[in-house]
Parts: sequence; structure tokens; C-alpha cells
Amino acid sequence: MARGRFITLEGGEGAGKSTQARRLATWLAEAGLPVLRTREPGGSPGAEAIRGVLLGAGPWDPVAETMLHFAARREHVARMIEPALAAGIWVVCDRFADSTLAYQVAGQGTQRAVWDRLAAMALGALRPDLTLVLDIPAEAGLARAEARGETNRYETLGLAFHGRIRDAFLAVAAAEPGRCAVVDATQGLEAVTHAMRGVVRQRLLDR
Ligand code: TYD
Repeated sequence: MARGRFITLEGGEGAGKSTQARRLATWLAEAGLPVLRTREPGGSPGAEAIRGVLLGAGPWDPVAETMLHFAARREHVARMIEPALAAGIWVVCDRFADSTLAYQVAGQGTQRAVWDRLAAMALGALRPDLTLVLDIPAEAGLARAEARGETNRYETLGLAFHGRIRDAFLAVAAAEPGRCAVVDATQGLEAVTHAMRGVVRQRLLDR
């Protein structure tokens, strides 16, 4: 059986990742593919419990926070993502390891070497087949997130913090163009959906 493909959606606050993840998963399912849509932090019972701790408690020591994100991710990968991919299921994941690089390393100042070591331990050789970076300027994204009315601990960290996060996602995309594609998330919902489908078609479906 062919292994499933692993698609991650990344980006700052208010980029529309959750809506687009839903739409992408539905579109793939309508094309006849078996699909699992999931999210981080969370996505499996243990990882969702860690999500509650991450978002509910704190402030955390930055390294401890990075470890918690990777502990949740390891649980999610081992129990949900890997078994799904092995069973031929396509996985659409709302945030993944690039979020930890952006938020905890670029945003909060954890050393890159810590991320490298934890990623090696938690992920082994697993990498997304495609990462869609939904790009929006920090100010516009935060305004959208605020308008939505729900603010988590990270959304209150200020414009400079969220600017570093945006730059970090763009740097990952520039460093790994084979894995990543940047989509302009300031466009309307429909335009973003359309652009994402184009990338998925070109990189994963037409091959
Ligand atoms: P998420 O549920 O995606 O929130 P939103 O939809 O508002 O973007 O993620 C919750 C928060 O966790 C979000 O503010 C980003 C943060 N986060 C990290 O700091 N590091 C990580 O590795 C992940 C996956 C998320």
C-alpha cells in the first residue's frame, strides 16, 4: 500500500490555518483520498492534555516549553500521524514542528540546538511532504485573531514577537523550498483556498 502524504499548515496568528485545514481535508476527501485532519499542540488524547497545560499554565521556562511542545508532538506522531501515514491515509495537520521553531526559538529565544535535538528525538526521519506557510503581516493577523474574540497566551505577546514569528516561517520556507510553499494569507478566504489547491495539485497530486 502506498504511504499517505503528510501536509502541514503553518503561519502566525489570524492567518486562517484552521479554516483552510478543514477545507483542504474536505477537498482531498472529495477527491476520494482517505484523510485525517489534526492539529498541534494536541491531536491525540495525551497531546491534548499537554496542550491544556501549555496554554493554561505558564509563563514557562523557554526550554521547558519547547520540551512540552515536542513531548506533545512525539505522542501525536507515534499514536496518530505515523500509523495513519503507514495505513495510506493523508494527514493534514494544523501546525507542526516549524511552529516550535518560530514561536519558541525565534519568538522566545530557545537555542536552535535545543530544537534540533528535540526534533531528532521526537520525529526521527519524519518530515512533512508539503508545508503550506500562510503568510500575513503580524499586525493584520493579530487584528483578525482579536476580532475572532479568543486570545490565547501567545496572542498577547506583542507585535515584535509576532513579527519575529512571521520572519521565521518565511526563513524556513526560503531554506526548504522543496518542502514549503508560501501562500499570501491576506487574500480572501476563497483565493487562499484556491492557491493552496494549486500547490497541492502541482506538488502531490499530479505526480
Ligand atoms: P493554535 O491552536 O494553532 O492557535 P491559533 O489557531 O490561534 O493559531 O495554537 C495555539 C498556540 O500555540 C498558538 O498561539 C501558537 C502556539 N504554538 C507554539 O507556541 N509552539 C508550537 O510548537 C505550536 C504547535 C503552537
